Amino acid sequence: MNLDFWRGKRVLLTGHTGFKGSWLSLWLQSMGAELKGLALDPPTTPSLFVEARVAQGMQSQIGDIRDYDTVHQAIDLFKPEIVIHMAAQPLVRYSYKNPVETYATNVMGTVHLLEAIRQTGTARVVLNVTTDKCYENREWVWGYREDEPMGGFDPYSSSKGCSELVTSAYLRSYFSEKGIALASARAGNVIGGGDWAEDRLVPDILRAFEKKEQVVIRNPSSTRPWQHVLEPLSGYLTLAEKLWHQPAKYAGAWNFGPRDEDARPVSWIVERIVDKWSNGATWQIDGCDHPHEANYLKLDISKARQHLSWMPRWGLDEALNKIVVWHKAWLSKANVRDLSLQQINQYISTN
Ligand SMILES: NC(=O)c1ccc[n+]([C@@H]2O[C@H](COP(=O)([O-])OP(=O)(O)OC[C@H]3O[C@@H](n4cnc5c(N)ncnc54)[C@H](O)[C@@H]3O)[C@@H](O)[C@H]2O)c1
Repeated sequence: MNLDFWRGKRVLLTGHTGFKGSWLSLWLQSMGAELKGLALDPPTTPSLFVEARVAQGMQSQIGDIRDYDTVHQAIDLFKPEIVIHMAAQPLVRYSYKNPVETYATNVMGTVHLLEAIRQTGTARVVLNVTTDKCYENREWVWGYREDEPMGGFDPYSSSKGCSELVTSAYLRSYFSEKGIALASARAGNVIGGGDWAEDRLVPDILRAFEKKEQVVIRNPSSTRPWQHVLEPLSGYLTLAEKLWHQPAKYAGAWNFGPRDEDARPVSWIVERIVDKWSNGATWQIDGCDHPHEANYLKLDISKARQHLSWMPRWGLDEALNKIVVWHKAWLSKANVRDLSLQQINQYISTN
């Protein structure tokens, strides 16, 4: 990754008030990008966005991507050179209860953004962040490659599959002939300091530990691919830079998953965090019925490894260390903006 590339680049990031968006905003700020964000208010209280004073180093606009005029105006005024699209309704269980909102945000939000980019014509590079769940999950043991069919059992996953199809149509119908480099990035569950989302394993565990309660775990044996949030973010940054220099070569879909050995059962994660947290933390299994959650879905990352020289850098154990350090620092009211920037620097200097 060439850190100098980002100095002075005009970058629009949607979803900057969210968990991944806040980390990416801090990273882009630290590299000197001229950054604007467009998103709704932070989705949780507390949030990394507020706790790390993310708005301090950027233009932050609160606006709804379900409204085309808002998106068009934001792009028209700011005139970004690079757009990274992360704004989404990202929760599977919430999507079962709110399918219309989920599709409106994740599908039409993407259409609005790409259409506004097409109409304004200032952006050279566009990256749509989707998820590993966009693939039709065949419940098999092999990794999914970028050209595998889109699908999705639940509204969230299927909305992200649709967002991928929209991206592909815009690339083929408009952007490739205009020379706009459009790509999509698929990553799995991410973890890191500053995540307070509902129904996510690590935030659920930390919430219980804080209250000195026993953690209740839904599916202890279900295996998921885990990675620190900085891993896919480094992939997005590397890809955007390549797209800038060689649009035709790098446009299209990319997987950014963890190493094979970092696909672990939920119980393994809980036990590791219990260990690292100490303080008498314990856990138990929740026997209630829960909506369908797709089983193990592994990403094949050969393409990113081969063509971007991108590889995950932090193993899962290191990622969990960083989270526990971050969360304990936050509890003791330390400066988590500085700590987050420090963890970004540690990540960059890891080979
Ligand atoms: N966190 C994960 O494990 C994970 C895994 C795979 C993919 N992703 C994807 O990464 C992206 C970021 O996820 P996250 O975990 O940071 O989620 P998050 O909920 O923390 O943040 C979502 C962001 O989208 C914004 N947003 C939601 N609805 C909006 C709307 N209608 N208009 C404008 N902004 C809106 C929110 O304000 C927030 O800034 C999403 O696209 C998500 O699908 C996340």
